[in-house]
Amino acid sequence: MTDLHTSIDKFQFNNVFMNASGVRCYTKDELDELAQSDAGTLVTKSATQTKRLGNPSPRYAPLELGSINSMGLPNEGLEYYLDYALDFQKAHPEKPIFLSVAGLSMEENLAMAHTIENSDFNGLVEFNLSCPNVPGKPQTGYDFDRTQEVLTNLFDFFTKPAGVKLPPYFDLAQFDQMATILNQFPLKFVNSINSLGNGLMIDPETDTALIKPKGGFGGIGGAYAKPIALANVRAFAQRLDPKIQLIGTGGVTNGRDAYDLILAGASLVQVGTLLQEEGTVAFTRLTRELRAVMQTKGYNAISDFRGQLKVLS
Ligand code: SIN
Repeated sequence: MTDLHTSIDKFQFNNVFMNASGVRCYTKDELDELAQSDAGTLVTKSATQTKRLGNPSPRYAPLELGSINSMGLPNEGLEYYLDYALDFQKAHPEKPIFLSVAGLSMEENLAMAHTIENSDFNGLVEFNLSCPNVPGKPQTGYDFDRTQEVLTNLFDFFTKPAGVKLPPYFDLAQFDQMATILNQFPLKFVNSINSLGNGLMIDPETDTALIKPKGGFGGIGGAYAKPIALANVRAFAQRLDPKIQLIGTGGVTNGRDAYDLILAGASLVQVGTLLQEEGTVAFTRLTRELRAVMQTKGYNAISDFRGQLKVLS
């Protein structure tokens, strides 16, 4: 039997699949549904310090090959997700989960980090530096000096296992620069990629932008994102200290897509648009399909092929 077991740092997971933050992880009921699915772990909706309603609707639309969204970080506030995580870890000590935070300023990120540091949370923390959808708030991950400053201030006091969620990069010099910054810090993981920020799709019937916020601009996910996600995971796998593991996110619609992200170097695989469209049953199909690809290739474990991408010489 093929084994989909994987790990990040000391944390063990019995399946490589999990949700991408933002998808079906907003309420405790949704989080419970993820916990009961075939996913190996789950991440909470990226939290701000206090509850946010997010952008006006319509703010998500499915597309032929994926989705566009400009949710604007609607969430119940850090306390809600931290409470959930603390209850969860008591009930399921064997199942570590991820708590995601996305402060709208460095000060907010640091304040949330202090709250988490001083709590009993013993899972992994994702600092989301890449939400493209809050009007007037550029993504920290595209500002290298700011990223360096945020991480320097954060790791001045933060000792819990943590990682960052990054936007997609498109130039090799950007991978070099960002990896040089990330390698200075005790990160356990890098999650790559968030949505392809600020795309635009038009309804052909009405000549109108498909979503309302930001004049129709929104993050693009789903199959459109696959080659960019693969390249980002691969580029960081080649540049990061091996102690910093990769979570591959973007473009997973079948088991082969997940296999490809793992070949590129991912230790966990997040599912966004597909999960939104199909629900948690998607994890059952993806698990079956990934197992089938591994069997065809003669692999029994994720570690047999993780990072083993071949290139033409
Ligand atoms: C959102 O809430 O707008 C999406 C979050 C993200 O892309 O990080």
